[in-house]
Amino acid sequence: MRTRIVHAARVSSTQDMAREMMPRELGTVIVADVQEKGRGRRGHVWLSPRGGLYASIILRSDPLLSLRVGAAVARALQQAGIVARLKWPNDVLVAGKKIAGILIEVADGTAIVGIGVNMDSAPLSEVTCIVSETRMPITRDELLHSILQEIEITYEEDIIEAYRVLCATLGRRVRVSIAAGKEVTGIALGIDRDGHLLVDDGEATRTIIGGDCVHLGTGV
Ligand code: BTN
Repeated sequence: MRTRIVHAARVSSTQDMAREMMPRELGTVIVADVQEKGRGRRGHVWLSPRGGLYASIILRSDPLLSLRVGAAVARALQQAGIVARLKWPNDVLVAGKKIAGILIEVADGTAIVGIGVNMDSAPLSEVTCIVSETRMPITRDELLHSILQEIEITYEEDIIEAYRVLCATLGRRVRVSIAAGKEVTGIALGIDRDGHLLVDDGEATRTIIGGDCVHLGTGV
């Protein structure tokens, strides 16, 4: 994939900037120093002070994209000396604390993949950042290039197998919110070939297509 990186000093959200681009060329990456209205999954705010990595990449939409990008970000962080694992589907954690998040939005058939990584500060007490987790120096742009390379690699491998290796959810007791007021609680048994989470709730194995997952008990 040929990439073209567009840098912006301050934006509302790199997601919006990508959405407004016409034509929206595959491989375009928008990276901003500051976002005034960074957003996360499920309507959350993504605090985006100077010093973090905030990027949106225009990619072909694909059902496994969410796992693909999660795996790529986790591996790029591992190369920087960080013990990064994934909470299904694609929250990137270090010892249970979130270090990076991914938001995928689809516009006219193309995916806008937003990646936020806390680099030199953790904007909330329950999250962490790169400088707290490694002494290996890495710049924002080096990390971005490493993530882009890792995304490419995921198209040449068995992404489900690669994802399972990185996934801290497997074997854990979890609670997954799947719709308003609807939750599944049980043991995360596996990830199927479509990237869905399999949870044993004591009565049956439930196949979960999407939702917000919480790891219960101790562990990563
Ligand atoms: C999440 O874990 O909730 C997803 C967070 C995604 C944040 C990134 S930062 C770059 C891009 N622009 C945004 O407004 N959001 C994504």
